[in-house]
Amino acid sequence: MPDPFGEDADTGKLYMCGIIGYTGHKNSLPVLIEGLRTLEYRGYDSAGVAVCTADGVIETVKSKGRIDLLQEKLDSLEKKVEGSCGIGHTRWATHGAPSDTNSHPHTAPSLALVHNGIIENYAEIEEMLVREGYTFYSETDTEAAAKLIDYYYKKVNDPVLAMFEAADVIRGSYAFGVMFCDFPGKIFAMRKDNPLIVASNDECGIIASDIPAILKHTNSYYQLEEGIVSVLCGSAIEFFDRTGKKADQKRLTVDWNVEQAQKGGFPHFMIKEIHEEPEAIRQTVSTRLGEDGLPLFGVHELDGDKLGKFKSIHIVACGTAMHAGLVGKAIIEKLARVSVDVDVASEFRYRDPILDPDDLVILLSQSGETADTLAALRHAKANGVCTLSIVNVIGSSVAREADCVLYTWAGPEISVASTKAYSVQCAMLYLFAIQLARVKGRLDDDEARELCRRLCEDMPAQVEKALELSRDVESIARNYLAVENLFFIGRGLDSALCPEASLKLKEISYIHSEAYAAGELKHGTISLIIEGTPVVALMTQERLCEKMISGIREVKSRGATVLAVTTKEIAEKYNIPADNTVILDNVDADFAAFPLATVIQLFAYHVAAQRGCDVDKPRNLAKSVTVE
Ligand code: G6P
Repeated sequence: MPDPFGEDADTGKLYMCGIIGYTGHKNSLPVLIEGLRTLEYRGYDSAGVAVCTADGVIETVKSKGRIDLLQEKLDSLEKKVEGSCGIGHTRWATHGAPSDTNSHPHTAPSLALVHNGIIENYAEIEEMLVREGYTFYSETDTEAAAKLIDYYYKKVNDPVLAMFEAADVIRGSYAFGVMFCDFPGKIFAMRKDNPLIVASNDECGIIASDIPAILKHTNSYYQLEEGIVSVLCGSAIEFFDRTGKKADQKRLTVDWNVEQAQKGGFPHFMIKEIHEEPEAIRQTVSTRLGEDGLPLFGVHELDGDKLGKFKSIHIVACGTAMHAGLVGKAIIEKLARVSVDVDVASEFRYRDPILDPDDLVILLSQSGETADTLAALRHAKANGVCTLSIVNVIGSSVAREADCVLYTWAGPEISVASTKAYSVQCAMLYLFAIQLARVKGRLDDDEARELCRRLCEDMPAQVEKALELSRDVESIARNYLAVENLFFIGRGLDSALCPEASLKLKEISYIHSEAYAAGELKHGTISLIIEGTPVVALMTQERLCEKMISGIREVKSRGATVLAVTTKEIAEKYNIPADNTVILDNVDADFAAFPLATVIQLFAYHVAAQRGCDVDKPRNLAKSVTVE
């Protein structure tokens, strides 16, 4: 097993969409389809290919949905697509809903292009190109890049130079694979802040967004450097810098198999996804911050006055998403002083909830397709209440049907047990709470800006520090492998994390656990504490520490073994009567949810992994529950 933190590891960043390109002697189409299949694990909602014939005709075929649908579409064509050079793409929608038109490759008169990443200034580019006579067909940011390269190609008559010229204009991140009609047999590749690898064997050249797609052909590759354009023609690969000079790139090798490569070298998707949390939080928050560092929702219903009018809020969701709602309740009530109910969607839809026209219903969902959440949304709408969805999948049902939507940017989550999606749901609820508090006059702009900064900059850093505790948590987890029952206790914000800590452990390790507000245990459940019963005490809230310590004493005096998860500051200041501790870096009490979430996820993961459980696919569970 390679070191997952090693140089080549595809970790810590969220790479959506998949790219593959082939140039050689065979028909490229089967190679492209096969390559796309090895990239399926990244999550996608549409797929497409473009193939260039020897005389420079580019045929593009794309389809919303699975690769099988693309294959069916290709099979049904009267004139078969054939050519020894081609590019393919699996898209995970960011700009524009999943559709045939929005799928890649995108074309311009001289070229076809696939893209991973986000072109931030696409609207400006489009405006400029429309003035130059271009017509746009899709809602994507990518089409602007395709047409911009075409525009420069016509000016400079050199594909490499045209790509550099376009790159000078583009703001954002990209990995591009481009074929020009005038250069049949060649693929041009370039990247910034998104990975792209180029590789070759004796017969062909390949470009790909990540390692799984090349392993069938070779295990040696170049991780394309930024500021370089690579030109592949069959097995020949050349690199050019901005001045047109040839450049050298370092050849790397990998000894992963496809499955290991898909997991970026981690043993499971779950642990890979936990490691993606810092980037997921950063992306989710930064896309909703204006240049002034304040929240920018850009959604009519959430504009100033309208947002201020909501008298109370109902957060409705299922499973882990519902637990993010508990954290949201704590922070919204604290900052904005607006009352929040959190409901399980399957109950909300049938219990005839009291809904006032001045209420707001927030639906949280990773997939946006959970049947109960969707039914709850429809129920709220039928009652004339404004609905806001916080969803991770663009164009999903919950996103489409709600009056307004705020997308989270966790990227595709493969592991059934939700981790990074929970963290970004919490992050978006924090941002919402800050904005609501601002509108309600409870925070001035400077205070709000500072909280946004902490959320966007400090929290990813705090989560990174929490990830450094992974090895410690792994060795502590060894004590829990034979456990049958366990309790999570906490107070204040910590108690909002306990249900998620408990669910995570239950769903993947099959160890029964309960989440309890620490002060409530003595009202009945403490009867279950006997010699050796494990209790995990979450204690990041200094103002409640003395109470927590009393709670720990209560359970310890009945024989419990206690693991405390706390901060450096608290551990130094208080004598915590625990048997073991996990110590987080100091963190503002109101924001402790983020690093704490990471640690409880790591705990569940390491217990389950060491018990030999099927971590990514726990028994009886599904990632997306689209039935009632
Ligand atoms: C399923 C999954 C959970 C998830 C829940 C809600 O039960 O196994 O991990 O939290 O659905 O899913 P959603 O996609 O709506 O967030």
